[in-house]
Amino acid sequence: MGVLLPILLALLAALIGGLYLLGVFRQRRPGEPPLDKGRIPWLGHVLEFRRDTLKFLERMKQQHGDVFTVQLGGFYFTFLQDPLSFGTFTKESREKLDFNKFARHLVRQVFGYVSTGDDHHMLQISSNKHLKGDGLEAMTQAMTSNLQNLMLHNIGSAADQRTWVEDGLFMYCYNIVFRAGYLALYGNVPPRSAGGEENAKAEDRAESDALFSEFRKYDQLFPSLAYGVLPPRQKMEADRLKSFFWDSLAVHKVRNRDNIGGWVFDLQRALTEKGVEDSMIDRYMFLLLWASQGNTGPSAFWLLLFLMKHPDAMTAVREEVEKVLKESGQEIRRGGPLIDLTREMLMKTPILDSAVEETLRLTAAPLLTRAVMQDMTLKLVDGREYLIRKGDRMSVFPYSAVQLDPEIHPDPHSFKYDRFLNPDGTKKTDFYKGGKKVKYYNMPWGAGVSMCPGRFFATNELKQFVYLMLAYFEFELKNPEEKIPQIDFKRWGFGTMQPVTDVQFRYRLKY
Ligand code: HEM
Repeated sequence: MGVLLPILLALLAALIGGLYLLGVFRQRRPGEPPLDKGRIPWLGHVLEFRRDTLKFLERMKQQHGDVFTVQLGGFYFTFLQDPLSFGTFTKESREKLDFNKFARHLVRQVFGYVSTGDDHHMLQISSNKHLKGDGLEAMTQAMTSNLQNLMLHNIGSAADQRTWVEDGLFMYCYNIVFRAGYLALYGNVPPRSAGGEENAKAEDRAESDALFSEFRKYDQLFPSLAYGVLPPRQKMEADRLKSFFWDSLAVHKVRNRDNIGGWVFDLQRALTEKGVEDSMIDRYMFLLLWASQGNTGPSAFWLLLFLMKHPDAMTAVREEVEKVLKESGQEIRRGGPLIDLTREMLMKTPILDSAVEETLRLTAAPLLTRAVMQDMTLKLVDGREYLIRKGDRMSVFPYSAVQLDPEIHPDPHSFKYDRFLNPDGTKKTDFYKGGKKVKYYNMPWGAGVSMCPGRFFATNELKQFVYLMLAYFEFELKNPEEKIPQIDFKRWGFGTMQPVTDVQFRYRLKY
């Protein structure tokens, strides 16, 4: 007994410690939000959350109200789903709610990038300079010429221009927008090394196509990779793909390209100046590729599909595009010059702007998360207050809280191309809930410190792509009666959603 007792006590202590770590003993304290730990120790609700985040959060909201804490894979997440109070989340100081701590962990797990300094500040400086305002001028030009290379390279060739080409709409849009965006940011093959301009363009097309094909493989593994639940075989494939991208986007390779976008160029230089090794910068380049190219292609797909399924919307957008083209003094003729689609022209399309915003309302569903750095009080606009614990996480999921709220957006599941237009044709920004104006009425880009720094460029990319499609091509669904495919629920929280199946369409040049 003398020996047995200490062993039993040690086992008991280990068991209690283990259960404590599994979160079994956590109880709701006075002043805290309702707590729902789920049935499975440590994992909590993570399986249901992953299966269908939207459905899970709606169930929790019905059960507990618009603020609640749930256990997900060892972490306690407090969800704030009252859109009128989103400002308290997005504007809270970094000392209390920190984005970087959470992001660093994810970025290391998914991209192998180990952040050392304040990358976020560096990212903001470069993004402000190159991805908005006047900086967009150069990016728009680069995007136009790359889109034209990919979409129109066979213009004037012997092939019968009037032959319909059939393709999957999702793959077509994702492929073209990804490749053009990649070339605009990471630069082109220099004509001197390819033996002339045309050869360089052909190399751009071939190389970007190969890159896209690998990107898609990574893209499909991404949700499970981010949740850390990839089976060993797929984990090996993800590692192979990561190495492929680190190599393809390696600093020494990108440096030899022409027309490198200012955003990528400045970020590479800033990291080098901070003393970061090239091999680590290569990993950062892959992170940037992911952030910049993972959402725009799928968004372009939804936008074109919604337009094709809503003839009134298609007519309004088409008329606007034709008007802007005419006003620019340009005309598309067979054998004539390619159009010069400028940033100025893209600023005169309020109808297309509204259609883009409506598309993103229906299909962009990011989960915004912060690490709770100290015990704090969450104050809601209606006067409610909740105590939040240090070490937990806080999240908002605007897709269900705002974007699909029928009070803010009546008939929320329908695509209404003019939802974001006032009757006088200006941009509509007044939306209400319970008689109160909602500041965050659409949040495809997130909000606060982590708000997407590429949002202006991304909007431009989408508009440019649709503009060129409408200007140069006739296109239609192979089966006009085909229903809009369902969203793939595995991707909730990661940005723009993808469809479970592709939709066949056909296109041909107009001229
Ligand atoms: C339709 C297209 C896009 C959508 C819907 C989108 C959405 C988002 C969202 C929701 C976030 C914030 C995530 C969070 O808070 O955790 C984000 C972050 C980011 N986005 Fe975008 N994005 C798009 C296109 C782009 C483009 C074209 C670029 C660059 C050229 C870009 C660069 C970034 C970067 C670098 C971040 C990380 C910001 C940070 O760490 O603070 N995005 N994006």
